[in-house]
Amino acid sequence: MSGNAKLLHENLWQADPELMDLVRKEKKRQIQGLEMIASENFTSLSVLQCLSSCLHNKYSEGLPGQRYYGGNEYIDEIELLAQKRALEAYRLNPEEWGCNVQPYSGSPANFAVYTGLIEPHGRIMGLDLPDGGHLTHGFMTATKKISATSIFFESMPYKVDPVTGLIDYDKLEESARIFKPKIIIAGISCYSRCLDYKRFRQIADANGAYMFADMAHISGLVAAGVIPSPFEFADVVSTTTHKSLRGPRAGVIFYRKGVRSVKANGEKVLYDLESKINQAVFPGLQGGPHNHAIAGIATCMLQAQTPEFKEYQVQIIKNARALCDGLLQKGYTISTGGTDVHLVLVDLRPVGITGARAEYVLEEISIACNKNTVPGDKSALNPSGIRLGTPALTTRGLTESDMARVVDFIDRGLQLSKEITAVSGPKLADFKRVLHEDPKLNGKVQALKKEVQDYSEKFPMPGYEEF
Ligand SMILES: Cc1ncc(COP(=O)(O)O)c(C=O)c1O
Repeated sequence: MSGNAKLLHENLWQADPELMDLVRKEKKRQIQGLEMIASENFTSLSVLQCLSSCLHNKYSEGLPGQRYYGGNEYIDEIELLAQKRALEAYRLNPEEWGCNVQPYSGSPANFAVYTGLIEPHGRIMGLDLPDGGHLTHGFMTATKKISATSIFFESMPYKVDPVTGLIDYDKLEESARIFKPKIIIAGISCYSRCLDYKRFRQIADANGAYMFADMAHISGLVAAGVIPSPFEFADVVSTTTHKSLRGPRAGVIFYRKGVRSVKANGEKVLYDLESKINQAVFPGLQGGPHNHAIAGIATCMLQAQTPEFKEYQVQIIKNARALCDGLLQKGYTISTGGTDVHLVLVDLRPVGITGARAEYVLEEISIACNKNTVPGDKSALNPSGIRLGTPALTTRGLTESDMARVVDFIDRGLQLSKEITAVSGPKLADFKRVLHEDPKLNGKVQALKKEVQDYSEKFPMPGYEEF
């Protein structure tokens, strides 16, 4: 092959060995590590095939049947299939709910919801970021508005009780009465308990607010029916599709349709959310839909309706509980005392290890997780906990009995971090230096890393063999 033909038809490993080498390394890292970042998962081969298909090539601005470009007959069918299956996966009546499958991901989906439902500077309440909410639910410091949600809208957070770690619904009710939000968000990135959607609905109704559920983290569990669903109470629901749902990296917005209320005189008031949401996504915020991702949504929503998917979701929760029990038995403190979902939040204050050190040492032994604030933390910049999730490990076939081994690895990693701190003192930079340069301590880290990698490698990994 020569010239342009070469550019077009060579495999990646021939065309760009430098990049291919990095992709192979990443694949190896994924296989050899224990992936415990609660928002991550390993998607299926069929979703990956959608993502690298010809669908990527097509422009299709607009909605099925109303496109700005020609050639969309099959793209229309694919998008309609994705919409239909998304409604089916959550057992929704198409008379009462519709959905938009075009958001590029969770953050654009949430911004489209705010843009569609309320005016600029309209008021929004979400769970505070350090308490387990998401940046897109609004976040600002005393000196700076960090999230676009806080820049373009007015955000006010609600909090968890610093002692129990549970959402303080009474305080939320009180603050909402004063702040009068137009949207109240029920959604989490780091909270290990089911949400009280009914209570959110009551508080929203009392203030004439929309109730918006962001189920990004838990949408696999909701599809499988293993935890309460927000759909009974919410006006709008958004989700990412790549977390517990195990689909492509994308987002979906569900909105209510049909009758919203009936007036005293019998007159029906209809929802008007469909056009508001659709127009906010396009032309409001996005351009051409990512059709390869929309196809991935279609196939993942088909999977989400199978008994095997339900079993998978049941196992995610069993694994999270086994992980939690194992850590409790070793003497660790778990925020809220347990878990109902796919994640646990470990409060490391009683053992005197910072979240940053824990995350660092665990990464050094091939366990991926993230540092996280815990209720009552004084500084969001120096969090005292780690968040551990089970969706990705469960995809690889680990069950409750394997969690004992995982707990053992985590515990040994955290003990090592104490040993390192005893030598390095309090500064993180010194901690990292000692970990790498002290021969005895580094030897221990390397030995434990090898154990973790030998263990992880045994579990199957979906996707392509090498990349
Ligand atoms: C609750 C919640 N909403 C939205 C998002 C944003 O999704 P994305 O990272 O796909 O933009 C996340 C991502 O972590 C999330 O946890």
